[in-house]
Amino acid sequence: MRILVTGGAGFIGSTLVDRLLADGGEVVAIDNFDPFYAPSRKRSNLAVALTNPRFRLVETDIRDGDSVRRVVADFEPDAIAHLAAKAGVRPSIEQPSTYTEVNVIGTVHLLEAACRLSRLPRFIFASSSSVYGDRPDAPFRETDAVDHPISPYAASKKASELFAHTFHHLHGLPVTGLRFFTAYGPRNRPDLAIAKFTKLIDQGEPVPMFGDGTTRRDYTYVDDIVDGVVRAIDRCTTHHLYNLGNSSPISLRAMIAAIGKALGKTPLIDPRPEQPGDVRQTYADIHRAEAELGYAPRLPFAEGIARYVDWYRANVLTENRGL
Ligand SMILES: NC(=O)c1ccc[n+]([C@@H]2O[C@H](COP(=O)([O-])OP(=O)(O)OC[C@H]3O[C@@H](n4cnc5c(N)ncnc54)[C@H](O)[C@@H]3O)[C@@H](O)[C@H]2O)c1
Repeated sequence: MRILVTGGAGFIGSTLVDRLLADGGEVVAIDNFDPFYAPSRKRSNLAVALTNPRFRLVETDIRDGDSVRRVVADFEPDAIAHLAAKAGVRPSIEQPSTYTEVNVIGTVHLLEAACRLSRLPRFIFASSSSVYGDRPDAPFRETDAVDHPISPYAASKKASELFAHTFHHLHGLPVTGLRFFTAYGPRNRPDLAIAKFTKLIDQGEPVPMFGDGTTRRDYTYVDDIVDGVVRAIDRCTTHHLYNLGNSSPISLRAMIAAIGKALGKTPLIDPRPEQPGDVRQTYADIHRAEAELGYAPRLPFAEGIARYVDWYRANVLTENRGL
């Protein structure tokens, strides 16, 4: 199978690239090495893939519609896994236009390029649990109304879902939207809480705890998410939408404690007020993905954190020491 992965140098994208190559696929990755975090980190994510003759990296920006159309027309993929995005809720509040250009216009460029192919590819794209907004009722179901996003990032993901449906309706493009719930694990994005807190606790510095520590996130191990993406690629026939979560939310306080335990250190807490744009909880109902994709997240949180800490010691620590 020939698969185009956008955002292929990122945290989830590069993990997906490795999995697709291991499964025998031919993979082209698009990435612009956006400076949101160190491009050197993204290059090392692809170090192994780049040695594989079935892999090619195209450095381009999905805001450049001509370039996107050229890459898609040349490669003629069987499937497109569109993961490139400006990620992160808080920075989207400062840069709403940039988030819209990349996450919405960039997505439309890919949908348009896909529909120009004589044989329509399967189109799978990353949405987010943030589309559910701030709601007390849980778990979150795909049938819930999601008309009240509370950050430009969430609004951009909801807009991507709407455009994907529109292209399916107009052109018959098979599309699957995947609402990821807080991915974590090796190659973790450095702006995400687990990565930041691991570093702070390891260095004996206080962890800023926003709110009273009872906010909850449905942390999902990155290999489980990637397994869901691969299953969605295999089964993308019409218009689908799935939650890919763990369905087992963890409180902020418990997350900090788990990192401390994995590092063998006692966390110091710096209490702070809640942040605008943050939701109180995320909690996926995954019955639809289980029934239709055979999705079954399996890694317990403590085990996933231990694996992340191993990766952190082998990669981030050596990077900091300039080794
Ligand atoms: N990590 C999570 O917990 C999470 C949760 C929900 C949704 N998502 C979504 O999953 C996808 C992957 O997220 P991630 O955590 O791996 O983030 P990431 O930032 O590590 O990966 C995104 C990649 O997209 C690339 N990119 C950004 N702008 C681009 C542009 N204009 N042109 C080409 N490439 C561009 C970046 O360089 C990066 O390598 C994103 O769409 C994100 O919104 C992630």
